[in-house]
Amino acid sequence: MKLGNIEIESRSAALAPMAGVADRAFRELCAEYGATYVVSEMVSSKGLTMCDRKSKELLCLSDKERPAAAQIFGSDPKTMAESAIKCLEYNPDVIDINMGCPAPKIAGNGGGSALLRNPELAEEIMKAVKDAVDIPVTVKIRLGWDKDSINCIEMAQRAERAGMSAITVHGRTRQQMYAPPVDREMIRKVKESVGIPVIANGDIVDGLSAAQMLEETNCDLLMVGRGALGRPWVFSQINAYLNHEIILPEPPVSERMRVMVKHIKKICEYKGERVGTREARKHAAWYIKGIRGAAAYRQAVVSLESIEQLEEMAYRITIENT
Ligand SMILES: Cc1cc2nc3c(=O)[nH]c(=O)nc-3n(C[C@H](O)[C@H](O)[C@H](O)COP(=O)(O)O)c2cc1C
Repeated sequence: MKLGNIEIESRSAALAPMAGVADRAFRELCAEYGATYVVSEMVSSKGLTMCDRKSKELLCLSDKERPAAAQIFGSDPKTMAESAIKCLEYNPDVIDINMGCPAPKIAGNGGGSALLRNPELAEEIMKAVKDAVDIPVTVKIRLGWDKDSINCIEMAQRAERAGMSAITVHGRTRQQMYAPPVDREMIRKVKESVGIPVIANGDIVDGLSAAQMLEETNCDLLMVGRGALGRPWVFSQINAYLNHEIILPEPPVSERMRVMVKHIKKICEYKGERVGTREARKHAAWYIKGIRGAAAYRQAVVSLESIEQLEEMAYRITIENT
């Protein structure tokens, strides 16, 4: 499939934007495992235009994670356009507009999923961003605000009219947050209603669920979020199934621990060991989830302070599971 001039393999999966999770270290790791496209954590358009240091850190995209999108959120067309121009300093391949985030901090200020309640403003924002930059612009939405106001088809048509290069649909309403199963039927209807590529998102966790999403929605690309937490290899599992109908099992504990250490060392390399190990605690918890005897390490995970501690824990878990 094509995003402007950028070619992405169609029967494949992208890494979803995930604030606080999908940072450069994680995106690079997922790309290594076969994610064919990645999206940055969402960045505040206001913060960017005010040259906030944190916003800039979030936008650091490396050569190991291409093609990559910078995702912005906000509710003012002018600020969104200005922030998209600011993003260009970080050389993204695509600008993605967040119109799906349910968090009160974002939606309460009129951004993210709140724009689903104001399709005219949403279209104005898309047009303003599109006119401001000369790289592809995409938008990520949910089905609608709640079950009584499902408007993803209208939003998709507006997106196409505004010149968006693709639309990502998370198959839930804002009200549903992350819980009930995704509505693949609605994603298919969105796909049928527009000519631009549609990226399907929600509940893809392995090769089988990826194939089911492709088949039932006829989407152009898949996007995986929570299914990759503590399991960046999910992309190789998806690719193996979609390309060769091979079901790759979960890696053995020794491999899971090796990848965990590699991932967390990368975070520390980019953010420093003190910040890195703190941010890494949640990742460590995901990596050891479900491993026999891992509960005993919960305390070690929540108080993780150094790579040395992490390596010792990984070693002990590996020994206990071989
Ligand atoms: C921790 C976390 C952070 C997220 N942050 C963002 C974000 O910054 N921008 C965005 O558009 N969606 C964000 N999402 C939503 C995901 O991109 C995705 O749409 C959602 O998790 C559903 O896909 P999944 O079932 O594969 O997880 C986030 C989700 C999670 C779990």
